[in-house]
Amino acid sequence: MFEDNNLETQPIKEMNIFNNWNSVVEAWYCVGEESALKNNILSTQVGKQKLVIFKTETGKVHCLDAFCSHMGLNLSLGKVVKEEIRCHFHHWSFKGDGTCSKQKDLNSYPVEVRYGLIWIWAGKEAKYPLPLHQDLLENYTYKRGPVYTRPSHPHISLLNALDIQHVNTVHALDLNVSAKHYEAPDQSYIHYDFEGKFLTKEKIFLTGGGYKFSVRYAGATVGFLKALEGIKIFGKIPFPTIYATFGYRQINQNQTVIQPIFLTPKRTGVLGWIKSQLHLFVTEMIYNRLKGEDGEIYENIRFTPNFTPDDSNIVSFIAHVNRLPKSKF
Ligand code: FES
Ligand SMILES: [Fe+2]
Repeated sequence: MFEDNNLETQPIKEMNIFNNWNSVVEAWYCVGEESALKNNILSTQVGKQKLVIFKTETGKVHCLDAFCSHMGLNLSLGKVVKEEIRCHFHHWSFKGDGTCSKQKDLNSYPVEVRYGLIWIWAGKEAKYPLPLHQDLLENYTYKRGPVYTRPSHPHISLLNALDIQHVNTVHALDLNVSAKHYEAPDQSYIHYDFEGKFLTKEKIFLTGGGYKFSVRYAGATVGFLKALEGIKIFGKIPFPTIYATFGYRQINQNQTVIQPIFLTPKRTGVLGWIKSQLHLFVTEMIYNRLKGEDGEIYENIRFTPNFTPDDSNIVSFIAHVNRLPKSKF
């Protein structure tokens, strides 16, 4: 969207990876719901790379390059036979590791199934396991939000949570926010801790005055959010901290697929279950409100920035993304 517009007067400074539709980061990608497997096969893609996912009779899920190495038919038209996927055209079969007894082997990619979703690593061997939310490594419960698409690059969507100026202008939160960030030594993620103080008397009265939130991006394809930490309604009643994870995937035609997953600590007993469900409901409600306010921005943006010192989080994130490894996709 808008890539070909205003080229003479507002040229795009193409970067190595950031906001570049022609490059794909070697990272984890959420490629669809497990329930979307039809006859145990799912056709999907990351960037321009077509892939086939299949689940074998013993329940193992595999991901291969989509086109059969014989004459190139998309294997998603095929059939799962025991532990292999059989091409519809001439019935050559491929194992989960991409090997075939008579034809050239296909590339296979690491797969994980989590939250009822299929995740693949865009390379031969995963350089790190599919990350969990750092604050909910175990004993969590989740709810998948509906998947949706945006016509801007995933990296542009990822800037949203780091853009502290728009918190006041677009979301009218009246916050003064400060941030600190660090990167994992192996560059597998970048993490931002934010601290916000409300500026208006009314908001201070409603919330107790301040709160914290954090944002972590792994491979610029999986996001982890922790928000509303420290909010006290009327300064007294603690508001639940909310947790969410997001999968971001670019596909061709300049489209980004975003899969939200809302998380909360798992609580015991019937009351605990009700409380968890309530937390998940509130998390989704807050998310939908922010998403609605942000939506039109990401549908009408042509990213040709001139940064100010207040944009330092965005600048550090872009530098991080441009250091990430590129996939062959
Ligand atoms: S194209 Fe797949 S077996 Fe011939
Ligand atoms: Fe926003």
